[in-house]
Amino acid sequence: MNKKPTSSNTVWHQATVTRLRREKLNNHRGAIIWFTGLSGSGKSTLAHAVEEKLYNRDCRTIVLDGDNVRHGLCGDLGFSDEDRKENIRRIGETAKLFVETGVIVLTAFISPFSADRKQARNYVSHGDFIEVYCQSSIEECEKRDVKGLYKRARDGEIKEFTGITSPYEAPINPELIVNTEELSLEHSVIKVWEYLEKRNLFGT
Ligand code: ADX
Repeated sequence: MNKKPTSSNTVWHQATVTRLRREKLNNHRGAIIWFTGLSGSGKSTLAHAVEEKLYNRDCRTIVLDGDNVRHGLCGDLGFSDEDRKENIRRIGETAKLFVETGVIVLTAFISPFSADRKQARNYVSHGDFIEVYCQSSIEECEKRDVKGLYKRARDGEIKEFTGITSPYEAPINPELIVNTEELSLEHSVIKVWEYLEKRNLFGT
């Protein structure tokens, strides 16, 4: 997986309805807000809460969420290092397509490997990719264990579980760190929102 493209004899067709024109129509820029963190660190909850706020501001958005996407587009993938890499590659490529349509894409994936996140970042232009690290200790995620998966991983029922039997490489230099262990959801949303305003996401 993740080999060089093998489709030969293909020619790129340049769209006349460009990203810029779409962004003018939308009245905001396209961008990827990439939430990363352990399972149970609050990525999906935060992504959806930020999306709600963006929607109320008439922004075009989509949330790509690990658990959901694995019911469809990535339903053939498991949790080996290779499969996670392919998962993130597909999401990076999908997010890029949405950015081209001027949409604000919010992704909520563990995305445990720095190299894969970097690859997704490099799919788009500088400034289009906002990495948000949902920082929460494994102890806290395990204590919450919202989906009951940590217990099952400890019992040996789930193999290659992130933070227990599979690694998580925390971002070294993300655009934003949200300490979801200490901050309430409301305050986490404010933190992301202030960053988006600072980055002038709402101007075209
Ligand atoms: S990623 O590592 O490839 O980015 P992704 O975000 O798509 O993972 O999926 C993570 C979700 O799948 C977790 O939130 C959890 O609900 C579920 N899950 C099931 N098995 C595992 C596992 N072995 N490791 C981590 N998450 C798992």
